[in-house]
Amino acid sequence: MRAIIFVLLLLIGASGCIVSVDPRALDETVNVPVENTPVENPPVVNPPVVVPPTTPPVDTNLVTPPVAPPVTPPPTVPATILLSKTQVAAYSAKKDCWVIYSGSVYNVSSYTSHPGGNVYVPYCGKDMTKAFNQQGHSTKADKILSGFLLGKVGETIPASSV
Ligand code: HEM
Repeated sequence: MRAIIFVLLLLIGASGCIVSVDPRALDETVNVPVENTPVENPPVVNPPVVVPPTTPPVDTNLVTPPVAPPVTPPPTVPATILLSKTQVAAYSAKKDCWVIYSGSVYNVSSYTSHPGGNVYVPYCGKDMTKAFNQQGHSTKADKILSGFLLGKVGETIPASSV
């Protein structure tokens, strides 16, 4: 009798060893339904840090300091002018014409309507007294001439009056 029971137990044990397990049953116990799966937060991805471009450091040893341009002093303008014969001689052109008449200096540079034409031009920078008188000019000519008076020969006048 014991032998029979022993054999039965062996058979039962053996049959338990070969009992196949339905995999779906295992899945039900192991796997969690999808809808119940807790949603995990997506990993936080930090944006890349953009480093602004930087200008290369300046080597101050290679940079020459700016050189200030030379300061040119303004031309000095004399405040006064001496009406000497030498000074008059410097104005011997038609457009820059000074003449001496009876001891006075005249700037006739702007006199462009001489009825006698350019006959007076050779006297620019010189004394024209003799030539002017020889022509026998009228008092009208005298008045025109007096309008160009600068001063007497040897007199010092302000440069602004020229
Ligand atoms: C720069 C100062 C001069 C002035 C302001 C001047 C002015 C005049 C004027 C106003 C006249 C018209 C006639 C009269 O009103 O007498 C005239 C005529 C004349 N001038 Fe002069 N004159 C000047 C210099 C000279 C000189 C230096 C000469 C000689 C080289 C000269 C020769 C003449 C001649 C030949 C005429 C006559 C023209 C004609 O009859 O058609 N002038 N002048």
